[in-house]
Amino acid sequence: MKNKTALNRMFILIVVAIASGFLSSVAVAQSSIEVTSPDARSKVAVGIDADGALFYSIERSGQSIIKPSRLGIVLASGDTLGAAVRVLERKTTDHDETWTQPWGEIAQIRDHHRQLKLSIEQIDGGQRMDIVIRVFNNGVGIRYEWPEQSALKAIAIADELTEFRFARDGAAWWIRAYEWDRYEYLYEATPLSRAGALLHTPFTAEFKDGPVVAIHEAALVDYAGMSLKRTGPLAYKADLAPWSTGVRVYAEAPARSPWRVLLIGDHPADLIENYVVLNLNEPNRLGDVSWVEPGKYIGIWWAMHLTKWTWGSGPNHGATTEHTRKYIDFAAEHGFSGVLVEGWNVGWDGDWLSSGGKSFSFVTPYPDYNFEELAEYARQRGVRLIGHHETGGNPPNYEAEMDSAFALMAAHHVRSVKTGYVQWGTNFPRVDGPGVAPGDTAREWNYGQYMVDHYQKTVETAARHQIAINIHEGVKDTGLRRTYPNLMTREAARGQEYNSTLGPGNGPDHIPTLAFTRMLAGPMDFTPGIFDLDNSGPLANKVPTTLAGQLALYVVLYSPLQMAADLPENYPPYMDAFQFIKDVPVDWSETKALEGQIGDFVTIARKDRHSEDWYLGAKTDGAARVMDVALDFLSQGNRYTATLYRDAQNADWQTNPTAYQIETRNVTSADRLRVPLAPGGGLAVRFTPSE
Ligand code: NOJ
Ligand code: CA
Repeated sequence: MKNKTALNRMFILIVVAIASGFLSSVAVAQSSIEVTSPDARSKVAVGIDADGALFYSIERSGQSIIKPSRLGIVLASGDTLGAAVRVLERKTTDHDETWTQPWGEIAQIRDHHRQLKLSIEQIDGGQRMDIVIRVFNNGVGIRYEWPEQSALKAIAIADELTEFRFARDGAAWWIRAYEWDRYEYLYEATPLSRAGALLHTPFTAEFKDGPVVAIHEAALVDYAGMSLKRTGPLAYKADLAPWSTGVRVYAEAPARSPWRVLLIGDHPADLIENYVVLNLNEPNRLGDVSWVEPGKYIGIWWAMHLTKWTWGSGPNHGATTEHTRKYIDFAAEHGFSGVLVEGWNVGWDGDWLSSGGKSFSFVTPYPDYNFEELAEYARQRGVRLIGHHETGGNPPNYEAEMDSAFALMAAHHVRSVKTGYVQWGTNFPRVDGPGVAPGDTAREWNYGQYMVDHYQKTVETAARHQIAINIHEGVKDTGLRRTYPNLMTREAARGQEYNSTLGPGNGPDHIPTLAFTRMLAGPMDFTPGIFDLDNSGPLANKVPTTLAGQLALYVVLYSPLQMAADLPENYPPYMDAFQFIKDVPVDWSETKALEGQIGDFVTIARKDRHSEDWYLGAKTDGAARVMDVALDFLSQGNRYTATLYRDAQNADWQTNPTAYQIETRNVTSADRLRVPLAPGGGLAVRFTPSE
């Protein structure tokens, strides 16, 4: 505590000193090194302490959010960039631009921010670095840039110093980093002061009387993923996943880091309508992406998770020509654009996990899967097969076939491929590059620089074949879909699969937690739509929602590729409810987060991008509650027919999950909608203009 107070005092003194031109080491006279958001509510201050070390702090409405926190990196050579610096130049610019997403949860996004670029130089070594800070009304981005220079060519980063020293304690939602199951954990809710030692981002914290804040990163390209490491009672620092060599990042100037991001809102729902992460990514680099097709799909998938069918060959092989034909028929009949087929290629037999994924071939179908014939069968019915590349966490094996694997998919009219990195742990093999002798293998973190580069290679290779990607078990989303719109969706969280025999199940507060944590990163392939809720085994593995709750997920959990995950035969008993899945779009022009408390409940409304229809999804945790929202998002003057898919009075996820009722009401934007939600329940609504 003592140190912190001293640090604060020093920081204030230094800012004052700089402002008055007192510090002789500041080469450029500065009246201020503060930058405010366009609405002037948020303020970021950058200061240099007596030793010349760089700090930043964040305030909102005069209240401190982040206290003076270090900035900088430590090089493997031992030099620290961001310590003992002089400022060479500072430049503030304003930016206000509206851009259009080719697909998304919203069509038009306004990028309105003020930027401060601070160019610094190490007093001793002369290395130069830029700190770029963008302040939005609802967030802050900070990145490092290393311009081309003679004092710094090859960059090996041993540590990144970026700190986040919270001003006060609050409530926090988090999952542990560096654990074997990647991001596939249930979130813990604790006081911020009791959150874990190593955390993944997005990491969300809420403070009494506001604000609510999430730490994440944007534009993770050719760099190590950032986790958060506790350094004090209310303090974390960036922890970059190291290479097997111990170095965190290898780069060559000119280079730059991803953005360190703070999303800021007054209420939890504000975080959902926050596009700072996307705004901090580069515009579309792929040009015409009309071949990137949002859509709904079914798949040969849940049957394997229920152990009814197998991925591998044998009498219960799932991916047979016969099964796939039936799935294509079902998709065509009910308007699904895709059929995912897992287990179509050789490599699943025997213990593919223990063999380290070496067995997979991405160009060799099983003999009972006639890819050629099925592609044509699907094409005639207006359906596309969706490819699957399970790598078993073996990137070199996958990369060896990658180009021909996507070529094979493209030749069979496939427009999207789901990739996977299942392995006993998070360290994957690498056969070349730093520190690996010829013929040797090193092991690298799933979210270290090697794997970040691997995912990038996958996305770029797929793009050359006009194929979109859905990554499972991969690195978290950092908004790269803006730059590479074929990087459509991913898992990077605990999805529906855990509500199967895999278990333990996710628990009813998982969804209202995901909405304010994982989903802030970007779309998730959660795979909603399980209707057979009564007999999925022991309670611990039961799908922890009602049927209406499953429908709500199509609106609550945004993904441009959205699955109806259950076995096709489980839908006909509930065809009237299935209608919602058939109707609900996956591409939206507007998103409104109407209400929510983290971990308790969430209500989101979205407008279809291709019609005047609105949809609403509300999801509660294990507690029954009444959703009560204003419908003022609807177009004024229009009358709408609202079709409600709601929990029946006696519904309960544990005892009576399939009790729902469908009701229609006439509403306008002047109305409120008040609907009870059952324990573990939810509500899905379609609003259609009636005139
Ligand atoms: C884990 C994925 O999340 C799941 O969807 C997939 O079915 C299995 N891996 C097999 O690849
Ligand atoms: Ca998974």
